[in-house]
Amino acid sequence: MTETTYSEKTGGPTTSEEHRAAGHWLLAKMGKRVLRPGGIDLTRRLLGSLQISSADRVVELGPGIGRTAQLVLDGGYATYTGVDPNEDARRQIAAVLAGHHDAAVREGDARANGLPDGSADVVISEAMLTMQSAADKSTIAREVFRTLAPGGRWGLHELSLKPDDVDQSVVDQISKALSRTIKVGARPLTTRAWTELVTEAGFEIEWTDHHPMKLLSPTRIIADEGLRGALRFFNNVRRNPQARQRIMAMRKVFRANQDHLEAVALIARKPER
Ligand SMILES: C[S@@+](CC[C@H](N)C(=O)[O-])C[C@H]1O[C@@H](n2cnc3c(N)ncnc32)[C@H](O)[C@@H]1O
Repeated sequence: MTETTYSEKTGGPTTSEEHRAAGHWLLAKMGKRVLRPGGIDLTRRLLGSLQISSADRVVELGPGIGRTAQLVLDGGYATYTGVDPNEDARRQIAAVLAGHHDAAVREGDARANGLPDGSADVVISEAMLTMQSAADKSTIAREVFRTLAPGGRWGLHELSLKPDDVDQSVVDQISKALSRTIKVGARPLTTRAWTELVTEAGFEIEWTDHHPMKLLSPTRIIADEGLRGALRFFNNVRRNPQARQRIMAMRKVFRANQDHLEAVALIARKPER
């Protein structure tokens, strides 16, 4: 996977980095910590419904800079393993895990995560599958199934399209507009198609929830980052014209397509037998 990353230690991005960076890393560079479409509210509802206990071995695929990891670590868990191909993300999440028992992050790819069969009770992935091709989405769903123990559950939080019978031409146009502005392949599915993807891998859907896709609206940014975090983000963006231009362009695409965009969260269970 080739993806442009940012390091806090580089002393600020160059103009070409500003133009090339994947949207989520640009937002992270500006201080945004919540990088998923339904915000921290939908994550909290997902984690609440997953009911992670101190007996659960938790794996998070694509944890990014670790905001969800922090919530998991603050609750009960047996082990936590983050798997992310991005070095800068792993460095940042390692700082979040420091001092917590049985918590580690490893280099890996969700398509072949390297973890033993049945070695997880809970798998979490947020805003990671949307970035994958159709074939890779299916590969990852089967890989999660392999990794989970019987009865284990998978919590997903992704970008979705509505309504379920939205015209394919609209799907294609939105995916193209998102990918162009985020600079990463963005291929959201309808809730029905997310459900099919997961059930075709052998899972049973247990729970579904939705939340508006308002990643870049000021009220959502305050809700996600807190007042202090939001002010830091707004100030960083204000001081960086190239980042501002990119982020405004992303927001414009989100708003232009808001009638068809929302966030979906699912819990899928691997049957006991
Ligand atoms: C949009 S960010 C979301 C980060 C975090 N989950 C969140 O919601 O704030 C996508 C994350 O998925 C990771 N990622 C992308 N492709 C991946 C893959 N094939 N396997 C595992 N992680 C992947 C990226 O490195 C990044 O950390």
